[in-house]
Amino acid sequence: MAIDILKKGKQIDKTFVVDLLESADKSLWDDIFSLADFIREQYMGNAVHLRGIIEFSNICKRSCNYCGLQKQNKQQHRYRMMPEEILKCVSSVAELGIKTVVLQSGEDDFYTLDILVDLIKQIKKNYDVAITLSIGEKTKQEYRALHDAGADRYLLRHETASPELYNKLHPDSCFEDRLKCIKYLFETGFQVGIGSMIGLPGQTNSNMADDILFLQKFQPDMIGTGPFIPNGQTQLKGTEAGTIEQTLKITALARIVCRKAHIPATTATGTIDKFGREKALHVGANVIMPNFTPQKYRVHYTIYPNKRCITEDGHKCNTCIRAMIINEGRTIASDYGHALRFQK
Ligand code: 5AD
Ligand code: FES
Repeated sequence: MAIDILKKGKQIDKTFVVDLLESADKSLWDDIFSLADFIREQYMGNAVHLRGIIEFSNICKRSCNYCGLQKQNKQQHRYRMMPEEILKCVSSVAELGIKTVVLQSGEDDFYTLDILVDLIKQIKKNYDVAITLSIGEKTKQEYRALHDAGADRYLLRHETASPELYNKLHPDSCFEDRLKCIKYLFETGFQVGIGSMIGLPGQTNSNMADDILFLQKFQPDMIGTGPFIPNGQTQLKGTEAGTIEQTLKITALARIVCRKAHIPATTATGTIDKFGREKALHVGANVIMPNFTPQKYRVHYTIYPNKRCITEDGHKCNTCIRAMIINEGRTIASDYGHALRFQK
């Protein structure tokens, strides 16, 4: 039985995953969802980790076909936060007792290595928080310098494990470079987050099975997955979004193959379904990322449309998310929520 194989925690192979993704057997999927929830509780506990995200610049030199921040998007109003402004924002995350700050941006060369290193050092000196960076592809030397400066974690989604689909969606970059960056991140000592979009145009069950095998192989510390949501200002306008069903299936399988990973219930999941984040918390997710980007900028960080929490400020998001977590029968973690392989 498929569920027994999943329970054992042995390596699974491609045909096995494709067969699962092609199965419409509701009771099998209910069992998979319960197993993912059980594994999450066993390995990660009941506490949900909060990570305050600051989207500090929406300027990007790249042209990913799915993303609203792509450089060709002339309709996008652009902004860039200065380091002092970012620090102020970090202070409001720390004040609320949130122990991780996620700094995310487009690939914006305004922030030189010196600026970033200085910012990281200032944060570490003044606030008791772990730092996660999500600022794209860099050289191994740069990753090393950022880690040496005190950054703890790095999110660099692989987006899709299909080299063909990856190369089609990224006209100015390639899968091979992405893979290299992911390897550099592991080698430089970061806690590493990867993950893919679900329901991309042209993405097949075979491609999504490859995403699961990719996670199984790399055993990342964090996994960011969410549905693809078409953005009307990109080449993929008018295409179909990923569904909540697909998203929950991939989230559950991600938890089953990476038992010790931190997995967020992502904003995109909460965007395609009003209760998407709550649902994700019950099929393996154990992290939520309240948004602390200042109001005036937040409305312009439009990777995809109709994003959740666009009009709320950080305090409101924090209150809302905490209430939601308690309501789901979970608790809120008060530690840093480091990767398990880094905890003694
Ligand atoms: N829909 C959903 N997710 C998207 N991302 C980028 N564009 C979209 C979109 N249209 C995701 C990518 C990226 C992360 C920051 O946001 O996976 O890594
Ligand atoms: Fe942002 Fe609810 S999480 S307002």
